[in-house]
Amino acid sequence: MSEIIRLEHIWKRFTGVTALSDVSVSFSSGEVHALVGENGAGKSTLIKVLLGAYQPTEGRIFYEGKETVIESPRKGSELGIEGVHQELMLVPYLSVSQNIFLNREIRKGKIFDVKEMNRRSQELLHDFSIDIDVTKPVKQYSASIWKMIDIARVINQNPKVIIFDEPTAILSEREVDSLFSSIRRLKEKGIAIIYISHRLNEIGEIADKVTVLRDGHHIGTLPASELCNDDIVKMMVGRDVSQYYSRSRVERGEELIRLDSLELKKGQHDISLSVHKGEIVGLAGLVGAGRTEVAEAILGINPILKGSITYKGKPFHPASPSQSIKKGIYLVPENRKYQGLILRFTVANNIALSVFSRWAKFFYKGKKEATVAENAIRKLSIKTPSSKQLVNNLSGGNQQKVVIAKALETSAEFLIFDEPSVGVDVGAKEEIHNHMDSFVVAGGGILMISSDLPEVVGMCDRVYVMYEGRIVKELKGDEVTDNNIAEYMLGSKVAEAGI
Ligand SMILES: Nc1ncnc2c1ncn2[C@@H]1O[C@H](COP(=O)(O)OP(=O)(O)OP(=O)(O)O)[C@@H](O)[C@H]1O
Ligand SMILES: [Mg+2]
Repeated sequence: MSEIIRLEHIWKRFTGVTALSDVSVSFSSGEVHALVGENGAGKSTLIKVLLGAYQPTEGRIFYEGKETVIESPRKGSELGIEGVHQELMLVPYLSVSQNIFLNREIRKGKIFDVKEMNRRSQELLHDFSIDIDVTKPVKQYSASIWKMIDIARVINQNPKVIIFDEPTAILSEREVDSLFSSIRRLKEKGIAIIYISHRLNEIGEIADKVTVLRDGHHIGTLPASELCNDDIVKMMVGRDVSQYYSRSRVERGEELIRLDSLELKKGQHDISLSVHKGEIVGLAGLVGAGRTEVAEAILGINPILKGSITYKGKPFHPASPSQSIKKGIYLVPENRKYQGLILRFTVANNIALSVFSRWAKFFYKGKKEATVAENAIRKLSIKTPSSKQLVNNLSGGNQQKVVIAKALETSAEFLIFDEPSVGVDVGAKEEIHNHMDSFVVAGGGILMISSDLPEVVGMCDRVYVMYEGRIVKELKGDEVTDNNIAEYMLGSKVAEAGI
């Protein structure tokens, strides 16, 4: 294993924030090197320096032994450094294969060889057991498929260094497995892999080395075999964090919402569920099982073909998100960057957006807006120099926290969380769970979509499992276990029971 990149005394300063303070670390070929740290610790900044997207304020970079200035992503790419970014980076209106081959189109003479690009795209995705129509625009696929397409795009460029910034945040377990096999193959080929994740179990599974960052400082680099999860957490956070889930005992209140035999387009049917006040109800299933579509139907984004919804005892016909929000229903979306935030607005503006109608009667109240925002920033420990910072400048996990803060600041009674703890660090995850708990203690109800089974088991009173567009099982009390959920989710119990 030989060193391929070495960073020496790297600093990166932004206005009001020092994202990296004197970081020295090196990465080797044929090695999976994990980068961990809390939200805002500097992980994405570090890899943007490696990719040439940011210039360090100070410090030197050595690539294959030679001091190198990676002045642009293009230069990074020429050197053979590629990254799968934390954000979804595809062009929504281009097809899957156009995205994979963007700026690297295969030509036949002067024209693009579309057929060949389609064939190769199909093949690349097939390696991840994804068989989709690669000629369709990517916008019609789910966030997890986007991620896999992005990964395929990067692998297709045959780089020497691949950086994954939280690739699994929105992937299902099955997709994580196929990603890991592919990472192992890449490693065998001698590619250097830099891997960022908040899921510590993954680090143990895939990483050879672990580097911990805290507040922009390099805390240490150790062989993964010498570290357990608790050690990593302690290095990351500087304190002990409980990795257990705690829920308050709440009397289940009256029914808040009920879905009766809904049928949605894409052949989803038999969708019946209910959520009462004081309950956190899980909606489990593989990515693609149709969970997000159910959430979107309740919000009026996704048309309902058949069946009915009853909300607080009355028939409810969702027409649009704004109408649902008025009724007290709020969704924290999965694809937060595109659906949950206006990146060019400040943190305060973004949080206020969801509460605005309440104040619209009055004139625009900047001061009130700042107070609400500061409150939310404190509540969820959002790392930002002030409420006036643009959301675009926050770290990925802190952007997620802003979306969740928005939801908690509305006067909603029924919240739907689509993958609430994706991309947030262990400490923040605990905070979000505590807020969900307080929300239902105060009489609200939550429907939680999550692919994180321990989270579902730890947080939910009841769980509905979706399989191929149907709700196939409701699990209550002691039945809510990892195993039970997994078996229904994967369809094995479904076939057995002939459901
Ligand atoms: N362009 C920018 N302008 C101003 N501040 C920035 C910018 N980019 C990052 N920061 C700040 O630098 C710090 C480190 O951010 P970074 O995105 O590297 O964190 P991270 O470790 O990737 O966190 P996460 O786990 O949430 O993705 C944060 O405080 C962030 O707000
Ligand atoms: Mg990041």
